[in-house]
Amino acid sequence: MGTKLLYPERVLKEYLRYNELKMPETEHKIIIGNSTQMDEIKDKEIHLIITSPPYPMIEMWDDMFASLGCQTYDEMHNYLAETWKECYRVLIDGGIACINIGDATRKLNGTFKLFPNHSRIIEIFEKLGFDTLPYILWKKPTNKPNAFLGSGFIPNNAYVTLDCEYILLFRKNALRKFKPKDPYRYASHYTKEERDVWFSQIWNIRGIRQENSELSRRVGAYPEEVVYRLLRMFSIIGDKVLDPFLGTGTTTKIAMENNRNSIGYEIKEDLVNLIKKKLDSENLYGKFFIRLRDDRI
Ligand SMILES: C[S@@+](CC[C@H](N)C(=O)[O-])C[C@H]1O[C@@H](n2cnc3c(N)ncnc32)[C@H](O)[C@@H]1O
Repeated sequence: MGTKLLYPERVLKEYLRYNELKMPETEHKIIIGNSTQMDEIKDKEIHLIITSPPYPMIEMWDDMFASLGCQTYDEMHNYLAETWKECYRVLIDGGIACINIGDATRKLNGTFKLFPNHSRIIEIFEKLGFDTLPYILWKKPTNKPNAFLGSGFIPNNAYVTLDCEYILLFRKNALRKFKPKDPYRYASHYTKEERDVWFSQIWNIRGIRQENSELSRRVGAYPEEVVYRLLRMFSIIGDKVLDPFLGTGTTTKIAMENNRNSIGYEIKEDLVNLIKKKLDSENLYGKFFIRLRDDRI
């Protein structure tokens, strides 16, 4: 692919002023296989993880979890935990993991209750050795103002509507070390306006747009803006970003647009065409490779 650059003009100019160098060529690997084993990645090779797993106890993922032998809340989280373990292994010291997750509500044995996926994931990450950082609440403007669960206007059997998802942030070990005046780091800076919005706790970002394909919605693709912000906040030009639950390839696309390398794992082979379609654009830089592994489904 070409060497045209999408990175903001002002950032590029600053980078060139520092170094009179070109942006690094980037590579993007897509593995169609199970991320509970990421044999293609060495220990401490990844600078940043951005991902959104299937959400336990949300009905759209029941069949997928069932096909992997998981029926209960615990089994679903134990299954995801195998991937989180690999994430810990491959992340560099000081690297950040960003996990987008929503809680679930469900009637089980006649009782309506909350399944707090975000708190279970925090517990698992803490056990693995990650440090939990202040997290982001992604508030999706709702197009369903009547999503209220209950009847009428009298106490006390109604439920609060879940209209936020979590973007959990974790760090592995101490702060990341950079060489003094690392030009890639300085060229990757953000503006004050960006910082003020991106580092505030509530993000108002619309969910995936209606014009996106049926399959995109079925997979639960997240908006590009979410990945863009996280990638700019927690990585520098030339870094390697991992998404162990790649879905339609959103993370790879944003990495390609922003001069980061990437690796993505997706277990379902029927998403390959959608991934290729998303990445097959003249505006994306770097090369991508797709490898089919035997453990895909
Ligand atoms: C919530 S979706 C990710 C959507 C993605 N963020 C996007 O923008 O398209 C989760 C994805 O993880 C995949 N998946 C589930 N278990 C997996 C595993 N063990 N290894 C790799 N992919 C897995 C599912 O097939 C699904 O496509």
